[in-house]
Amino acid sequence: MIKVLFVCLGNICRSPTACGVFARQVADSGLSDQVRVDSAGTSGWHNGAKPDSRSVQLAAGYGYDLSFIRSRQVNEQDFIEQDLILAMDKENLSSLRQICPPEFAHKLRLFLDFADLPVSEVPDPYFGGSEGFARVLNLVELGGVALLNHLKNDYIQNS
Ligand code: 4NP
Repeated sequence: MIKVLFVCLGNICRSPTACGVFARQVADSGLSDQVRVDSAGTSGWHNGAKPDSRSVQLAAGYGYDLSFIRSRQVNEQDFIEQDLILAMDKENLSSLRQICPPEFAHKLRLFLDFADLPVSEVPDPYFGGSEGFARVLNLVELGGVALLNHLKNDYIQNS
């Protein structure tokens, strides 16, 4: 079982979207018993909250269910248990690096590192308009496909 954790700042917009989209992509590939997906925030500002309604509604329109997700902060156990800890932007990657024990630092990456895109970050949509949320969904779908290909190549054994 490969455990993937998506991380943003508030864990109410970008990382829950990534979690819901990637869970579907994994399920559609028949790999749900081999990949576990979760999300968290570098802040605990929205602990226990549902994802932002703008993210939930947009994702639902494309068939992705985010309604079961509740915001939580990254914790020490995540660095031990997760296999890949994927930050949505460089600021969150930097925050993770500051609190991650050095022996687990190899688990930290930018989510879009796996994708061949002209951008390396999923921009924070929280204080902007609907186009920011649409961009998040688009980048997350593209990043998810690339991540799944990476996992199939490097982790998942075909039998
Ligand atoms: P997220 O977006 O990191 O994608 O969940 C944000 C959500 C909340 C805040 C900032 C970004 N905030 O400042 O409360």
